[in-house]
Amino acid sequence: MNNHNWTLDDIPDLIGKTIVVTGANTGLGFEAVKAFAQNGANVVMACRSVEKGEIARKQIIRLYPSSYIKVMELDLGDLKSIRRFAVTFRQSHAHLDVLLNNAALMMAPYSQTKDGFESQMGINHLGHFALTGILLDLLKKTSGSRVVNVSSLSHKQGEIDFDNLLFENGKDFSSMKAYGRSKLSNLLFTYELQRFFESKGINSMAVAAHPGIANTGKPTKADTKLWLKIYNNLFASIIQPATMGALPEIRASVDPAVKPGEYYGPGGVLELAGYPVLVRPKFTALDVEMAHKLWEVSEKLTSIKYH
Ligand SMILES: NC(=O)c1ccc[n+]([C@@H]2O[C@H](COP(=O)([O-])OP(=O)(O)OC[C@H]3O[C@@H](n4cnc5c(N)ncnc54)[C@H](OP(=O)(O)O)[C@@H]3O)[C@@H](O)[C@H]2O)c1
Repeated sequence: MNNHNWTLDDIPDLIGKTIVVTGANTGLGFEAVKAFAQNGANVVMACRSVEKGEIARKQIIRLYPSSYIKVMELDLGDLKSIRRFAVTFRQSHAHLDVLLNNAALMMAPYSQTKDGFESQMGINHLGHFALTGILLDLLKKTSGSRVVNVSSLSHKQGEIDFDNLLFENGKDFSSMKAYGRSKLSNLLFTYELQRFFESKGINSMAVAAHPGIANTGKPTKADTKLWLKIYNNLFASIIQPATMGALPEIRASVDPAVKPGEYYGPGGVLELAGYPVLVRPKFTALDVEMAHKLWEVSEKLTSIKYH
């Protein structure tokens, strides 16, 4: 089976499985919801905007009328919203098979979340750290459950600076630095979470994925400039579509052959595109001491305790 390309056709029957996808209204999250719903899962689209989520849900229902999809509000940049999501989710769900931490703010200028964290670290890492911790009891109760964190090739540019983890008042901030740090944090968190599961004898696993580069871009005001339109169209024509970019996170979420602590990405040149295969992160992502410290700092910042 070595030369087999893993595709949507390899997704097993997901009837009876409950899957939460963050950032599900667009891009890779939207593609993942489609794939899960098509195979019978009970999918919760955790979206910052319920309105956008509903529009996306209706599109999928049109394609797969018998699918079971629900939209729930979740703003990962607001710890109160994360707590509210968990309360509402628990009211109608007794188990959670897959938590796909897919949402992200990418390459954004300096801003802060409602809780005062730099936004990319706050949403991409701390938000998902808090969400996972709050839903831990349900993950524990669900034998064989998975937490899937979506990282990026940009984690390779990421560095952790514990003296200024959140770019306080914009100090040392660049959008690339903050994004890279958040994506490295996603990986450090994945490996530490897996060690946590093992040390507590919990039958859940933590895995990670990255999409390479995928065309999930939406037109912006700036795209009205002719040269940008041409550039964007050219770029879009050479990078892989969102349907391909979503495959690594879909595989990490549902392939029965996936093992704890694995990391999936595209198998093509430089992991930029292609069918999902096992990949390796940069060495720093495997640093146990750094991961442990990040975990402790994240618990403190979010006031979410894992136990
Ligand atoms: N596309 C790529 O080439 C690429 C490359 C490397 C890694 N990735 C990773 O792949 C994942 C998906 O990327 P994508 O390209 O599909 O991104 P996208 O199209 O920009 O979608 C991002 C999603 O995250 C949501 N989101 C942003 N801030 C949020 C918040 N505070 N609370 C809840 N949801 C929030 C967005 O909601 P709104 O629609 O409301 O803004 C949207 O649904 C991300 O983790 C990203 O880092 C993507």
